[in-house]
Amino acid sequence: MLSGARGANHQHILTVTLNAALDVTYQVPSLRLGHSHRPTATDMRAGGKGVNVARVLHALGHETMVTGLVGGETGNAIRADVLVSGLREALFDMAGPSRRTVTIVSDGAATAVNEPGPRVSISDWADFVGGYHALAARASVVVLSGSLPPGLPDDAYAQLIRATPTPVILDTSGPPLLAGVAARPSVVKPNAHELIEATGLDDPVAGARALLHRGAHAVVASLGPDGMIAVSHEGSWRVRVPEELRGNPTGAGDACVAALAAGRALEWPDRLAEAVAISAAAVPCPLAGDIDPDTYTRLRPAITVEALDARADR
Ligand SMILES: Nc1ncnc2c1ncn2[C@@H]1O[C@H](COP(=O)(O)OP(=O)(O)OP(=O)(O)O)[C@@H](O)[C@H]1O
Ligand SMILES: [Mg+2]
Repeated sequence: MLSGARGANHQHILTVTLNAALDVTYQVPSLRLGHSHRPTATDMRAGGKGVNVARVLHALGHETMVTGLVGGETGNAIRADVLVSGLREALFDMAGPSRRTVTIVSDGAATAVNEPGPRVSISDWADFVGGYHALAARASVVVLSGSLPPGLPDDAYAQLIRATPTPVILDTSGPPLLAGVAARPSVVKPNAHELIEATGLDDPVAGARALLHRGAHAVVASLGPDGMIAVSHEGSWRVRVPEELRGNPTGAGDACVAALAAGRALEWPDRLAEAVAISAAAVPCPLAGDIDPDTYTRLRPAITVEALDARADR
């Protein structure tokens, strides 16, 4: 299982996908509710947010390791596609079959049908936690992404964060987000909807500050075509995208998380500008996990980072 792992000093980014999926994407010229459609293209590949983050990191030239839980025939297909994609994996087996997710891309919009995934048993979770320690100890940064599968407690990510000796970036929602924030991750990356749901606050700056005060070291809230706001103890910033792009925005958040992980050594303004450019570059790509280099190169110089009044962060 760990045969792909390198030595203890090797720097790489570990991405955790507890609810890995076989992603099926259909291109449909004009989606109409209640009608049948023939897709003009069908793609099937390994997904789940952590896998998408690893794909983007791999495209950016970073060493990655994919871990999480997979099972059944769909699990075998996920494992095989991870390897075909050039990613290294240390996935753990679970009893139930991995889920499928279906995305229908039509007229520049994406419609998703996501199975919840099988129930994870207590013993499968205990095996994962046991093996996770060694994987996390070898990583330079750990990314925890996506929903929790049925059967895991809301504090599953919090348990992993407490067991991680390196910086952790957490991208999830609802109770797992709130429990995870209390375990003091380095960065949390909610989108606008997740931030409102978690905090009850409509203003993203106020919502991000609320998560900061609950324990996150930094909060990067992604706001779709409106860019991002970031709140940390080192300062707060608003980052704007120079233009609204059309395409498949599913996976733009994963590209944002990948950029935040890859840019951990940068100063915040550069790290954020990179995150906006790389996530925007995901939008023109039909499949989550891909980024368009030309879009990145075109947008990167035009991204503006504006400092917000930092007094409230202290
Ligand atoms: N239409 C768009 N045009 C330009 N940039 C975009 C667009 N949509 C998203 N982005 C970029 O991608 C980032 C993340 O987008 P968003 O807030 O939609 O993430 P998300 O909802 O978490 O996505 P995901 O489906 O991957 O979870 C934004 O902060 C922005 O930089
Ligand atoms: Mg997201």
